[in-house]
Amino acid sequence: MSANETPVRHQPPTATYDSAFLKACRREPVPHTPVWFMRQAGRSLPEYRKVREGIPMLESCTRPELVTEITLQPVRRHDVDAAIYYSDIVVPLKAIGLGLDIKPGVGPVVEEPIRTRADLARLRDLTPEDVPYVTEAIGLLTKELGQTPLIGFAGAPFTLASYLVEGGPSRTYENAKAMMYGDPELWADLLDRLADITAAFLKVQIEAGASAVQLFDSWAGALAPADYRRSVLPASAKVFRAVAGYGVPRIHFGVGTGELLGLMGEAGADVVGVDWRVPLDEAARRVGPGKALQGNLDPTVLFAPREAVEAKTREVLDAAAGLEGHVFNLGHGVMPSTDPDALTRLVEYVHTRTAR
Ligand code: CP3
Repeated sequence: MSANETPVRHQPPTATYDSAFLKACRREPVPHTPVWFMRQAGRSLPEYRKVREGIPMLESCTRPELVTEITLQPVRRHDVDAAIYYSDIVVPLKAIGLGLDIKPGVGPVVEEPIRTRADLARLRDLTPEDVPYVTEAIGLLTKELGQTPLIGFAGAPFTLASYLVEGGPSRTYENAKAMMYGDPELWADLLDRLADITAAFLKVQIEAGASAVQLFDSWAGALAPADYRRSVLPASAKVFRAVAGYGVPRIHFGVGTGELLGLMGEAGADVVGVDWRVPLDEAARRVGPGKALQGNLDPTVLFAPREAVEAKTREVLDAAAGLEGHVFNLGHGVMPSTDPDALTRLVEYVHTRTAR
């Protein structure tokens, strides 16, 4: 066992152990298909916009009572089967002292991009003392949530590196890819540093009480499979290995990753997230046996009339009918202008239609 791995813990079953969500992740029979939505906590909810008024995004992530309230809002409103911890993928990077911010309507922006070996020195290890508000918020949340599981999350090394090297959001990732192709050693060392930070951040969340974790490699779909295997998979696999011993389900998600689904499973996930471009039965063939799938309704379907939403939802459920474990979700995050009532109706529709 390497220094980074955790021993397997045989803990007594927690309050959330028998939830439909955790059963589906473990590929056990479920009373109904569990549902949650990426980005369920956030701008689609008027009650979110109200409590966030005047508070910058990254500051809001450091206030435990506010984090608790925002995380609970979609659970109360939609009756989803899991909560996702309200935070952001750049929170651990900010916590170790990097100069960065989230610009409204833009996304994460980094003051001084990471481009050279000397820049790596700015990426120190993360300790639980760097993020006391995470431990505190999750303590409050697990009390409030009772039997509803809380999903912790982090950004995967590639997606974090894409922001750090580019300095902000990008469509082409030209600087990140130039480093990946041009200085593979520096690239590998950067991703390895990020893997350690990410693993430490997930451990804090699990130790505080998160029942599952999701690694967001949102932008990995920009990579060809051979490059993903060589230059990204080792770092993501290190993150998954580091938290394997806790026995909590590990979900791995990216957008446009149809050609990478097998490799993303190989990286060590228990559940592979699928966007809307690949039907779930085909995704299951690509991922192979032994893993549950999560997804995959196109988030823009929610702008269509109710009958169309229901028809597209049936397509997803039909494609998932033969799977051993299915967690219903969108193929990417809830879009800010989505009607929250459409989400509430969708949860109810999936629950009713799949009740066994
Ligand atoms: O409900 C949830 O899913 C939990 C909260 C959550 C946020 N960010 C809050 C947030 C999660 C899981 C994330 C992850 C995240 N952040 C990802 C991976 C998920 C994905 O969508 O692929 C990525 C790529 C980021 C980086 C990021 N942060 C972007 C692209 C943006 C949007 C910028 C904008 O204004 O359009 C953010 C900001 C952000 N993170 C918001 C929220 C609620 C919006 C900012 C606000 O409310 O002021």
